[in-house]
Amino acid sequence: MQSDKIQIFDTTLRDGEQVPGCKLDTQQKLIIAERLDFLGVDVIEAGFPVSSPGDFTSVQEIAKLVKNATVCGLTRAVKKDIEVAAEALKFANKPRIHTGIGTSDSHIQYKFNASKEEVIRRAKEAVSYAKNFVDDVEFYAEDAGRTDNAFLAKVCEEVIKSGATVLNIPDTTGYCLPEEYGAKIKYLKDNVKGIENVVISCHCHNDLGLATANSIAGAINGARQIECTVNGIGERAGNTALEEVVMILKQHPYLNLQTDINTKLLYDTSMMVRERMGMPVQPNKAIVGANAFAHSSGIHQDGVIKNRETYEIIDPADVGVTESAIVLTARSGRAALAYRAKKIGYELTKIQLDTAYKTFLQFADRQKEVIDEDIHQIMKHVNKISKIAIA
Ligand code: KIV
Ligand code: ZN
Repeated sequence: MQSDKIQIFDTTLRDGEQVPGCKLDTQQKLIIAERLDFLGVDVIEAGFPVSSPGDFTSVQEIAKLVKNATVCGLTRAVKKDIEVAAEALKFANKPRIHTGIGTSDSHIQYKFNASKEEVIRRAKEAVSYAKNFVDDVEFYAEDAGRTDNAFLAKVCEEVIKSGATVLNIPDTTGYCLPEEYGAKIKYLKDNVKGIENVVISCHCHNDLGLATANSIAGAINGARQIECTVNGIGERAGNTALEEVVMILKQHPYLNLQTDINTKLLYDTSMMVRERMGMPVQPNKAIVGANAFAHSSGIHQDGVIKNRETYEIIDPADVGVTESAIVLTARSGRAALAYRAKKIGYELTKIQLDTAYKTFLQFADRQKEVIDEDIHQIMKHVNKISKIAIA
């Protein structure tokens, strides 16, 4: 069966850049945008043009630079925002305006102090207005995760009539459970007239650590675009991580969902974003964290040395990581010490390894990790006491 394509909508430069401390100047954004295009993302959300003159310039320059991806600018359901976004996007090969409004009771009551009918009116008006400037108009129903499904379906149906090409169903507050979010997408597929003519998009936040799971549940239930950021950066606990979505779909081919991302560039792209944004990645982060392919316990190391697949479901080379790491700690066994010693030129006999291992444990109990320099010291010591030169 032929697999369906999931479009990757990258919002590193918009939702990701909103994070305190992640602000980038235009030059830095251009470098990241070029890399995202090369990586194979389908859409780059370049910014929120009306928010500042700097963001306007960034979106405009990205629109001129990007060759393959659609370039998208965010707006509120406000005419001025839409005009400014259209102006910023006018040089894009493939421009998209991303407009929308809050649809949950909480947003309608506290943000707008308006009625549901008024929200629908503003949503339709924003989409129709954006259509005067571009063909490709994505509509977001902010806080769709907490919006009543029947009302959400009504909003969606109305904006489709106004010309929306993509329907973004954001779990803005990261509230939904995967089952619930998946059911929401299915409900829209089953109940919204005209939905077969638009792309449904998932935009999930990570407040409960479920952003990626929710996006995948959305895709399984019919969404064909996932909005995400490199390293999962974004408001509060962040957005869906691009690298996670891409690798989940690659590692589970029976889902019949695939992306056009060149996965071998994932690690380098992650490094580029963390360095340019000054936003470190936790070591245990899936796919791109420093420990994602590092093994430190003796049992795991022994398995991985025998066959990598005993403890790894992804070949590190597939994401651009050179090789799995065998990290030497007090929990490591003889197999790991012999493996690492061999890598730096020491071929140990069984007796030499026994002696070396005793010395190794003294090092390992004193320090968190035993590095190559320590292994050289250990070998000198073994040479001295065993009088058998190590090859
Ligand atoms: O999280 C959200 O709802 C958003 C929208 C503006 C798309 O970022
Ligand atoms: Zn968001």
